[in-house]
Amino acid sequence: MTSITVTPEDRVFVLTGAGISAESGLPTFRASDGLWAGHNVEEICTPEAWQRNPEVVWKFYSDRREAGKVALPNPAHIAMAELESKLGGRFFLCTQNVDDLHERAGSVRLVHMHGELSKARCERECGRPPVEDHAIYRSLADVPHCPCGGRLRPHIVFFGEMPLEMERIEAEIAKSTLMVVVGTSGSVYPAANFVNWARSAGARTVYIGPEPPLNASAFTHVVEGKAGKVLPGLFVVE
Ligand SMILES: NC(=O)c1ccc[n+]([C@@H]2O[C@H](COP(=O)([O-])OP(=O)(O)OC[C@H]3O[C@@H](n4cnc5c(N)ncnc54)[C@H](O)[C@@H]3O)[C@@H](O)[C@H]2O)c1
Ligand SMILES: [Zn+2]
Repeated sequence: MTSITVTPEDRVFVLTGAGISAESGLPTFRASDGLWAGHNVEEICTPEAWQRNPEVVWKFYSDRREAGKVALPNPAHIAMAELESKLGGRFFLCTQNVDDLHERAGSVRLVHMHGELSKARCERECGRPPVEDHAIYRSLADVPHCPCGGRLRPHIVFFGEMPLEMERIEAEIAKSTLMVVVGTSGSVYPAANFVNWARSAGARTVYIGPEPPLNASAFTHVVEGKAGKVLPGLFVVE
């Protein structure tokens, strides 16, 4: 398959994972050694780790902020923004990524189901909304507090926490006729189930990435290749 036709009746739901940012120089999580940028993420990205040692957690996400700042959107991010510009309200993007490369490429109708590197929120869940925060924290003494007295934590969904915006995501999947999944290993739930929800609602389902994901059998098509090579020019919008 060298092209995917998008008809005037189609509504497209896109799910992206770490693979779409790989060609921007940001490492994916599940490299063959099981480490992410030298860390065992299951030991850092958890509520328990935050309770045990918030400074280590902030150092880790400060490193991610520094890496994210110098990364640039690649042709795959740009292709998604261009598809949105053609489809408008018939396009919706859900990313598992915490970087802002989709926004910087021009995507607008998107949600970050696993949070955003550029924000922080109260550790006490006191009800105040997340705040913009681009700071680099190397010492806990530098981390600001919420007016309620709680410490600010990264606005990131740790392992074991509920993903964000699930109601909106479910509604968008229910309306979609074409699901496009890019660069995600299909190992983290509920995202790995989106393809099944879309298929049982009758949608076509396409995966794009250099190797088949764990849930490959749920897709009607798997296009093997790097996102930055495959996505530009893949969609023919009627
Ligand atoms: N809380 C945290 O900080 C943390 C840490 C680790 C994972 N997670 C969560 O787990 C989620 C799932 O991980 P994931 O599936 O996004 O990442 P992953 O590392 O599990 O999978 C990356 C996928 O991208 C593919 N890929 C590699 N290069 C590519 C390219 N050039 N083009 C297209 N695809 C390419 C790989 O084949 C792989 O299937 C993450 O989004 C994240 O939210 C969270
Ligand atoms: Zn608070």
